[in-house]
Amino acid sequence: MDIPNSAVWFAVGIVLVTTIITKAARGRRKYEQASSMGTPHPPTVYCWSMIGLLCTLYMKGFRAMILDQYKKLGSVFTISFFGKNITILVGPEVADHFYQGMESELGLNMLDFTVPMTGKEVGYARDAATRCEQSRIQTDALRPSKLRSHVSPMLQEVEEYFAKWGDQGMVDLRKELEQVLMLISGRCLLGKEVRDNMFGDFFTLFNEMIDNGTNVTNAMFPFAPTITNRRRDRARAKISEMLTKIDDVLQYLIDSKYGDGRPTTESEVTGMIIGLILAGKQTSSTTSTWTGARLLSHPTFLAAVLEEQKHIVKKYGDQIDYNILLEMETLHCCIKEVLRMHPPTASLFRKVHKSFLVKTKEGTQYEIPKGHTIASPMLFNNNIPSIFKDPGVYDPTRFRPGREEDKAGGKFCFTVFGGGRHSCLGEAYAYMQIKVIWSHLLRNFELELVSPFPEMDWSKIMPVPKGKVMVTYKRRSLPST
Ligand code: HEM
Repeated sequence: MDIPNSAVWFAVGIVLVTTIITKAARGRRKYEQASSMGTPHPPTVYCWSMIGLLCTLYMKGFRAMILDQYKKLGSVFTISFFGKNITILVGPEVADHFYQGMESELGLNMLDFTVPMTGKEVGYARDAATRCEQSRIQTDALRPSKLRSHVSPMLQEVEEYFAKWGDQGMVDLRKELEQVLMLISGRCLLGKEVRDNMFGDFFTLFNEMIDNGTNVTNAMFPFAPTITNRRRDRARAKISEMLTKIDDVLQYLIDSKYGDGRPTTESEVTGMIIGLILAGKQTSSTTSTWTGARLLSHPTFLAAVLEEQKHIVKKYGDQIDYNILLEMETLHCCIKEVLRMHPPTASLFRKVHKSFLVKTKEGTQYEIPKGHTIASPMLFNNNIPSIFKDPGVYDPTRFRPGREEDKAGGKFCFTVFGGGRHSCLGEAYAYMQIKVIWSHLLRNFELELVSPFPEMDWSKIMPVPKGKVMVTYKRRSLPST
């Protein structure tokens, strides 16, 4: 039986109200009992405070909600609802174990919502050791020697795509960038055969799977018999059918072996490919759109990236390769600053399998008990004024030599690509594809943002720009002499 999303939210509402009433009857307790080891558990937000917390979340957003509690309770606190405890670890000082803890101690169960999309053979459906081996195989697929060979097909896709634009016009930048990034993923991660023969269908199905698989409701109830989950599963089954028909899909994944010599199976390869596209496509297309919105709203930085492109065109003509992309440092900083202000994931989560101790900057020690979920709230951490000066201001120069605010604050103060054990395998690939797109757009078009600066759409598990991002364009070419 299909259950519509509204029904799921209604059920969530009922449970929430019941929980609040039950907790209210017990009264508000600010501090949990000391643990058996004598170290206290973190201060906890209960019952009526939950209402205030949810109101702040709804009215002012995620950052304001964390800030409220941070001011009251400090850098480590627990939010207790639906019988679940989520402990928030604010700032780099308390982030070490989150990023470096062993997977046997800290699980990645919070990413279960990806399992119906990637399949039961790979990723978060598998045990830590198998996932680790699969990550190794994926890392090989994204190593620098492979990255170099991706530049030329990426450029070709980008040039062909934007050649279809007229001399001038108006487009929804978000939709355009989503499409071009899907084409790049198809070409670089799936191979030319898929790209040439079945890409239209693949694109439609993949979008259908993401649209129906990454809402907040899916994340909370990934296996519930809802309409969106059914749509997601149908699209996934068709994608899998398409991929298994292809002989040369990501040959290096197919040829890969586990440490004990066992070859990868067809469904594992399919799952790994879907996992890579899932991890890479949405994150990069969101970042590319924000990059456009920010640059087109900040004339100083738009002029700076244009100047850099002119300089590079003078030096190398139209040629672009891996090393030339690395020279685009101003563009790099502009993208990095977008990632600070609009991280594709607002927070990372882990499940505590073994209790651990954490010490705050002020020297207070807490025990985080087994069973808690811990969160590293990137969207908040990226805006801590003692680390990032004037955090509300778009200022890519904060990453330039001499300032390097992302490094000055310590090891885990900028974790947009994760950190430690599970840091992103596709960081270099992501920067590369976003730079290929934006260097092409800057060189070939005069662009203007005509819709208001986009708001954040919080209904998705990865917050995306809300609505259309309308841009006018006019063809131009940068002088090469
Ligand atoms: C702007 C673009 C991107 C951002 C912001 C981003 C961010 C992240 C983050 C935060 C994590 C860590 C998740 C955690 O610790 O729970 C991660 C992991 C990962 N990313 Fe990315 N990512 C991006 C692009 C890509 C691309 C293009 C690919 C591949 C083509 C990719 C592949 C992966 C993989 C395979 C992992 C899992 C690593 C593991 O669990 O060991 N990502 N990414």
